[in-house]
Amino acid sequence: MRHLLDTTDLSLAEIDEMIALAMDIIDNPKKYAHICDGKKLATLFFEPSTRTRLSFEAAMYELGGNVLGFSEAASSSASKGESVEDTVRMVSCYADIIAMRHPLEGAPRVGASKALVPIINAGDGGHAHPTQTLTDLLTIYREKGTFDNLTVGLCGDLKFGRTVHSLIKAMSRYKNVKFVLISPKELSVPEYIKTDVLKPSGCEYKEVEHMADVMSELDILYMTRIQRERFFSEEEYLKHKDAFILDTDKLIRAKNSLTIMHPLPRVNEITTAVDDDPRAKYFIQALNGKYIRMALIITLLKWGELL
Ligand code: NCD
Repeated sequence: MRHLLDTTDLSLAEIDEMIALAMDIIDNPKKYAHICDGKKLATLFFEPSTRTRLSFEAAMYELGGNVLGFSEAASSSASKGESVEDTVRMVSCYADIIAMRHPLEGAPRVGASKALVPIINAGDGGHAHPTQTLTDLLTIYREKGTFDNLTVGLCGDLKFGRTVHSLIKAMSRYKNVKFVLISPKELSVPEYIKTDVLKPSGCEYKEVEHMADVMSELDILYMTRIQRERFFSEEEYLKHKDAFILDTDKLIRAKNSLTIMHPLPRVNEITTAVDDDPRAKYFIQALNGKYIRMALIITLLKWGELL
């Protein structure tokens, strides 16, 4: 049984195929409207979510399937002390595919060890968020037509932001990609991202503390919010809350072809005036999340011979 626990579970050829499938879904939605008739997706969300959960649900409905699940740990048997393994094993009896979000790093992998159906990691703590990365890749593909030769700026909470970790893992596999890591020192990328991902990939990268200095170099600017729920002290949080805000003034030096992305939710790190800039793509990115999840559900069900 194939699962999606981390971005690197997929080969580059498989990512290309999934993106091609998403593009076909965008162009020919009717062709896919009944492909999952009678199939069920379970969404096990032990941590809050709006886009990820609802886009999974919308994706399954648009494929003709049905959805069951819970949106908070408190309304599941986890609140009675049930283990992730038991929950997943049991839900495998009720659903054909499971999307799971959990505050603990590695929880979806633990669940997958007992699963009888494909498990999709919909975000595990500060670790990974592979379906957001597929969403980001589809957005980059639709904007740039390629993943090669791009300078990607990632800004904000690079330490706790799981979308950032997964995107770096994915983009570092392409040719001549450069990373500009923009964050306060306390929120820079974890050491393992440098030693296990960036350095072995041979990609050029630099760490800076001022967005304005590097703006003109960027092809993509990936903004993120401060992950308040993963901060241990409120004092730490307040120190960084307003740092690294993108506004229209900072964009004056940016390329016309810049693509501004954000996994959302936004707090205050992009001013609402930026939303009207044609380079702002974060709401289209959210829409792309539905299409790529449709492609992912079809692909995993087919690989598991469940479709
Ligand atoms: C992200 C997440 O949950 O990691 N949101 C999302 O899935 N679109 C980003 C975030 O919460 O900041």
